Amino acid sequence: MKPKVIVYKKVNQKVLEYIKQTCEVVYFEELDSQNDSEFLHELKDAHGLFGVGLGIDKKLLDQAPQLKIVSNVAVGYDNLDLLELSKRGIMATNTPEVLNETVADTVMGLIIATARRMPELDYWVKNGQWDSMLEEKWFGVDVHHKVLGIIGMGGIGTAIAKRAHFGFNMDILYHNRSRNHEAEQTYGATYCSLEELLNQSDFVCLMTPLTPETEKLMGLREFEQMKQSAIFINASRGKTVDEEALIQALQKGEILAAGLDVFDPEPVQKDNPLLSMKNVVTLPHIGSATMETRFNMAMLAAENLVVGLKGDVPPNLIKSEVNTK
Ligand code: GLV
Repeated sequence: MKPKVIVYKKVNQKVLEYIKQTCEVVYFEELDSQNDSEFLHELKDAHGLFGVGLGIDKKLLDQAPQLKIVSNVAVGYDNLDLLELSKRGIMATNTPEVLNETVADTVMGLIIATARRMPELDYWVKNGQWDSMLEEKWFGVDVHHKVLGIIGMGGIGTAIAKRAHFGFNMDILYHNRSRNHEAEQTYGATYCSLEELLNQSDFVCLMTPLTPETEKLMGLREFEQMKQSAIFINASRGKTVDEEALIQALQKGEILAAGLDVFDPEPVQKDNPLLSMKNVVTLPHIGSATMETRFNMAMLAAENLVVGLKGDVPPNLIKSEVNTK
């Protein structure tokens, strides 16, 4: 008998067909909540879960006694309770590497859009204000030859460093749990403390995964340590930033501007003050959202799922501290 899998995300037909070759699939194109009664019903005898964003916690796992694997279609897995999964011997997988270059493109786009004020200018051109755009008050600031500070130098951080070094002649500082030799040797990145990075960078780019250690990593003190002329970029998770502190830093002019792909919570609340600030460029968490990369992520997640359900070790098994104990 084929194992039963719940796919709770809209997925490319080819990926779905691939999963269906070896699994019985129950498909929810969209699932807003883990309390959906139909979903909970299907969960009772499901062996695999495939999707993104859903909180996989004790409450959900208590209702999934047959579960063997959770295949997260994302590189970040802060939505998974790894301790609970590990206690039950359930595998968890993610989709690293395949999205690095695409997210790095998004981050460079955010840096340029924010520094050069592109969304504001776009708005004014479309509203017939071409002439007034020539005034100095609309000028942006340079990106090239500036100092870029990257917090979290994993695969995505390294792909950003490559672009910044070769494409923009930027000096790169980074702060990370461990040293990244590729970034240092190939892209000239310099390792430093968080405080030094914040003090010296013209662009501070937050790329760290969300963990208990990185939650609200950027708070009042950290924004105060940034240059007043600096631009803050976040493409990690909304919760790595104390959003109130960011709002305050922008309101008080402690930093120049911000480019944000992530918020806390998501979707961003309509009355979030960040949405009415002209010096804040906002994206709807689309770092990896290209046709090619989203397909590759889904296919990789499908491979993880199928391999895990066959009883083999999936290529991207999350080896967290809890799982390796
Ligand atoms: C996107 O945010 C991801 O974790 O893949």
